[in-house]
Amino acid sequence: MTSPSNNGVSLQDKLKKEAGISAVDFVESGMVLGLGTGSTTRFALEELGKRLKEGRLKDIVGICSSVQTENRAKELGIPIITFDEKQELDLTIDGADEVDPQLNLIKGGGGALLREKVLAQSSKRNIMIVDESKLSPKLGTHFAVPIEVIPFAWMPVAKFIKSLGGDPVLRKKDDGKTYTTDQDNFILDSNFGPISNLEELAQKLGQKAGIAEFGLFLGTASEVIVATSNGIRYQKRNDS
Ligand code: A5P
Repeated sequence: MTSPSNNGVSLQDKLKKEAGISAVDFVESGMVLGLGTGSTTRFALEELGKRLKEGRLKDIVGICSSVQTENRAKELGIPIITFDEKQELDLTIDGADEVDPQLNLIKGGGGALLREKVLAQSSKRNIMIVDESKLSPKLGTHFAVPIEVIPFAWMPVAKFIKSLGGDPVLRKKDDGKTYTTDQDNFILDSNFGPISNLEELAQKLGQKAGIAEFGLFLGTASEVIVATSNGIRYQKRNDS
């Protein structure tokens, strides 16, 4: 979805911005935040920086899911800490590449899945911000699963992914060189098609040596803010 709207801003960017701003309404002074990565989260960071500057929020600290986010947060005057200082986060704001009706996610389009999952597992609440194009009846319908792998093991892991029915493609940069993550690992974007048994696939991927992390986030999102052309929709995960 890249249709242009007013001022050359695409409708998708407009929706991402709305979702990003809405998420910051959940932030309270004094919170320790997890800061995700991606074009939607970038709008949330800008809003956070603005509210801190205006004094509407105070005493916020953030732990970043990527070097990219850390650089942007510093530019915006958002105080950054590491897990050395705090190990529990009040709230993490992050984007997603695909969201199913149970609020399971595919993440890692921006390559930050490993740190993002660490943040998600360390956070009391995880608010995901997406535009409506990310919604899907079944994960894998629209997006390949990013699988972060240590360089030493990428070929046997690729073979393993094929044995599970996936089609792994080594992620490349625009210049044709192999993409590396903030941990200097590789990413295999692995198309499984619509995934029928998420838990089973996650379990198999989780047991394979050489896989540093994979982009299926099952049960980690507590809430999802979806920006649609009809306005903002808020969904809470049903834990029961
Ligand atoms: C980063 O690794 C990803 O998990 C992002 O959160 C995801 O790709 C969403 O990105 P956009 O907000 O740019 O669509």
